[in-house]
Amino acid sequence: MEKVAVLDSGGQYCHLIARKIRELGVYAEIRPLGTRAQRLSRYRGVVISGGPASVFDPGSPQPDPALFKLHLPVLGICYGQHLLAQHLGGKVEPGRRSDSAGAGAREFGEAEIVIKSRKSIFAGLNGRERIWMSHGDYVSKLPPGFKILGSTRDCRIAAMGDDSRRLIGIQFHPEVTHTAHGLQILRNFVFRVCGCRGDWHPADQISDLEAAIRRHARGRRVLFFLSGGVDSTVAFTLTERALGPGRVHGVYVDTGFMRHGETDEIRGLFEQLRLDGLEVIDARQPFFQALRGVTDPEEKRKIIGRLFVDIQDQVLSRPSYCSGQWMLGQGTIYPDTIESGGSKHAAVIKTHHNRVDRIQQLIAEKRLLEPLAHFYKDEVRQLGRALGVPDSVLRRHPFPGPGLAIRCICSPRPARPEPEPAIAELAEEAGYQAFLLPLNSVGVQGDSRTYRKLTVLHGAPIHHEALARLTTRITNGFPQTNRVAAAVWPQTLTPGEWRIRRSSLTPARIRLLRQADHIVTRFLQEQFLYDLIWQCPVVLVPFSRQDGETIALRPISSVDGMTAEVVHIPVPQLQKLAAELVEAGGIDAVLLDISNKPPSTIEWE
Ligand code: XMP
Repeated sequence: MEKVAVLDSGGQYCHLIARKIRELGVYAEIRPLGTRAQRLSRYRGVVISGGPASVFDPGSPQPDPALFKLHLPVLGICYGQHLLAQHLGGKVEPGRRSDSAGAGAREFGEAEIVIKSRKSIFAGLNGRERIWMSHGDYVSKLPPGFKILGSTRDCRIAAMGDDSRRLIGIQFHPEVTHTAHGLQILRNFVFRVCGCRGDWHPADQISDLEAAIRRHARGRRVLFFLSGGVDSTVAFTLTERALGPGRVHGVYVDTGFMRHGETDEIRGLFEQLRLDGLEVIDARQPFFQALRGVTDPEEKRKIIGRLFVDIQDQVLSRPSYCSGQWMLGQGTIYPDTIESGGSKHAAVIKTHHNRVDRIQQLIAEKRLLEPLAHFYKDEVRQLGRALGVPDSVLRRHPFPGPGLAIRCICSPRPARPEPEPAIAELAEEAGYQAFLLPLNSVGVQGDSRTYRKLTVLHGAPIHHEALARLTTRITNGFPQTNRVAAAVWPQTLTPGEWRIRRSSLTPARIRLLRQADHIVTRFLQEQFLYDLIWQCPVVLVPFSRQDGETIALRPISSVDGMTAEVVHIPVPQLQKLAAELVEAGGIDAVLLDISNKPPSTIEWE
């Protein structure tokens, strides 16, 4: 199989590069930057990713110098370009820390490259192209044999190449969508420069995957904990197909925090796919009991995690599973297996699972089967499609392990909306009114999760663009809030009439939330919005005018959940959805969460 290696310099974009190359039909694998050259010789080409280091840092990550003697095509991106220059006799200089433009300035953001040679990686591009820069250091002198392929106003050697040795360095990031023809640049590299054919497709791998599962299982049986989500369902189906009926078990724990009909759906799925070996553990009672009266979000998460681990432990300690005849199967996917920065290949285990001693023991005994560990989410969907997993499962939005419990906001005490004159003044400029709600809403500030108050905007119709601008100003300027929501229904919330009710996690509140979540899901599907949205948490907020609650909607787009942008649902549809929610009963207001991640996380807790 023809393969391209993506050497990881610790940049956040490493997976993006590999995923884009795979979309072109060429299998790309992430390898540590320091991989020995000999091991790279079986690849058709090598991409060196960007990374946060500077070649001037002591101990900065380095490739094996023999890499450049392999006669393999190499594309160095950003830090990767600096490495090329440094190893091949060019010169790198630190960027000037000045605000003024000019040669040698640091560049962050959009820039325009003037292309000097519209061949090789720039074939088919325009003479000027929009690109995305993010660098301090820059290449100030070409290595011998290299030519300048393109320059920006502030960066003379924005792209350089040595055609005869097939070595190319670019200062900008072709893998991000801000670079207008970035995909074409990667396409040119893998096809024109590396000479790949591009005939790799995940679904063609199924028989090899099945053979690998059989080899690894060596006659043993496999137990999966199923969540009803895409990864574990596809991993289970593939393993069952590889090992045959009766040798694969699935355990599904019903915590009581699942979506509408989810537990029945998984039973139905097993029937439809003619799979057997499903065990449903009804744990609703212990979960509700353990959470009775608990209102603190982190405490809720801890309790749920611990209980989940206990249940898994009980299952795994059954005598049959303890015997060496059983292995544990998991739906781990590629991004879960690569530790960002160092690319140490670690058996990183999905949420909830990692603290179970018995699982650690299984790993130590090599009794862990992860058939999807080399695939990205979209590829898992393609595998699932080829295996006959229904589209309703494959297209389903991601759902967190703790489920509806972390979307059911609790409050230890009653509270009132709080005026915040400075925010109100800012909101007024945009035609809105504002107040703060003293609820615990989580956000990401720096590397840590922080709980802050929620800003509510109301008093004028939803205007997505104006609200987006206002939200950025509020979350940038006021550290006491990390999330902003706007009133969809009613449009005006007279603060004196509203209050936060003392509330905890009860079966009745979860039922109300589950019903609202179901209404929203069905609505998005009927209105053809479901597939345009990556995830849409529906959150129950104990904010009421009479006896009801508030529903907050959080429609976002994302690639992997690491960052998220608000999806602008057309206002008439939003209003229709709000009307349906209110009509179903128990709901006093509907809010729309209009914050991006960062600074707001996708979930509210
Ligand atoms: P946040 O809220 O951190 O969410 O922006 C990012 C993505 O992760 C999901 N999520 C979880 N998934 N267990 C999970 O399996 C969890 O505890 C958990 N918390 C958040 C969230 O739904 C989003 O897709």
